[in-house]
Amino acid sequence: MTSLSRRSFVTCLSALGAAPLLPKRSHADGTQAVLRATTSTAQLTPEGFPRTDVWAYAQKGAGSVPGPEIRVKAGERVTRRLLNELPQSTAVHWHGIRIDNAMDGAAPLTQDPVPTGGTFDYDFVCPDPGTYWYHSHNRSREQVARGLAGPLIVEDVEPWLGLPGAATRELTLVLDDWLLNEDGSIVEGRWDELHAAAHAGRMGNTGTVNGQSFPGFSLRPAERVRLRMINVATDRIMPISLPGLSSTLVALDGHPVAPRKLEVLELAPAQRADIVVDAPVTSTEMTNLVLGTGRGNQVEFASFNIEGEPVQRSGEDVRPLPSWKTLPKLDLATAQNQPLLMEGGAMRGMVEATYQGEKMDFRELTSRGMAWAFNGVAHGMGEPMFEARLGRTVRMELANRSAFPHGIHVHGHHFTLLSRNSVPDPHKDVRDTVLIQADETVEIAFVADNPGKWMIHCHMLSHQASGMMGWFKVN
Ligand code: C2O
Ligand code: CU
Repeated sequence: MTSLSRRSFVTCLSALGAAPLLPKRSHADGTQAVLRATTSTAQLTPEGFPRTDVWAYAQKGAGSVPGPEIRVKAGERVTRRLLNELPQSTAVHWHGIRIDNAMDGAAPLTQDPVPTGGTFDYDFVCPDPGTYWYHSHNRSREQVARGLAGPLIVEDVEPWLGLPGAATRELTLVLDDWLLNEDGSIVEGRWDELHAAAHAGRMGNTGTVNGQSFPGFSLRPAERVRLRMINVATDRIMPISLPGLSSTLVALDGHPVAPRKLEVLELAPAQRADIVVDAPVTSTEMTNLVLGTGRGNQVEFASFNIEGEPVQRSGEDVRPLPSWKTLPKLDLATAQNQPLLMEGGAMRGMVEATYQGEKMDFRELTSRGMAWAFNGVAHGMGEPMFEARLGRTVRMELANRSAFPHGIHVHGHHFTLLSRNSVPDPHKDVRDTVLIQADETVEIAFVADNPGKWMIHCHMLSHQASGMMGWFKVN
């Protein structure tokens, strides 16, 4: 532990001795119909440091970061009246849910932003089990960074927990990255900073799990637990490892995968991973959730304390999650091909792009706050990037011609990863957000089976705000 470089807050925390905290149980869904977006405070830094003013979701009582966990079973409805108590307009996007277009929350494409004091009734079915999240989709670069994000868990219809080879318990871990001042306040007034937007985005200096700095979780010896991990950071890619725990990946972005062993998991903003961990068989060991922060640095994000009565382990292979059986089959032979070329940013830039109907050079673009383009268009929210007939398979070649990685998210659909740099993907993972490295080309395909206007954008929210967004139409 001492060999790892740590932030000052974490150092202070370990000096204080981190108390193991059990995760909060979520309440059963359906009892509260209101979701307030409101101002609140949160203890993002260790006890003894000042609380942070945040924007947060609330169902009952004060707003919390992350927002309250919303939980339904697959096929059930989520019904919430959004009440906006913020000083800005807002809207809620239900990330990864194959949702009715009118409920997608992608302001201003699918709804008007909800003004201060206004309401919007969200009412939609969650067709597929898995780990999802909800977040602001208006001025999201600022609003998500201020705390407007929470977990949305869609449970399997038939319980998986407790079956042979399955976990006996689950934990939701919401990973976040905050840019805080010394006094604990959020760094303000730099929301539109072009320098950050043209690089890797707004990078924080304080990591939290479930809104806490370096929380401790208790695992019993030999216990098998499902971790639902969600990266809600605005821009930070999180390479995660769990040294000391045997980790098996069972789902990505909510969709089951054939269980596979895991060393390091690279979780881009908005991505989720369900990981089954086996605790060591002897107690009093301590292991950490470790986050690589680039340049070879690592920080510890949370601790797992192995304590209590050992669990009788069956020693069986990890049981796969039940498959969705809800996605239509791809028809690649008749697919509609849609290229998506990503350009811009520091180090490379681009010769020119169209912004608000006008062609301009990179300098001109940056003077308007634009640093990125999709297919030569910056902030392409006017005309759709393409249209697809309902039921048509769309194959997209996502070509990153910039010096930075991008996490591309498609609304309303989940897609299959076909290849990376022309090498067929061995797993054919199904996702809603894919990380594409600098100079990498990734091929994806999905059946355009959900009518409406759907956004496609980089989920590094600083990149999105400075040009990396567009939309397509399914009809
Ligand atoms: Cu989670 Cu359009 O985003
Ligand atoms: Cu990006």
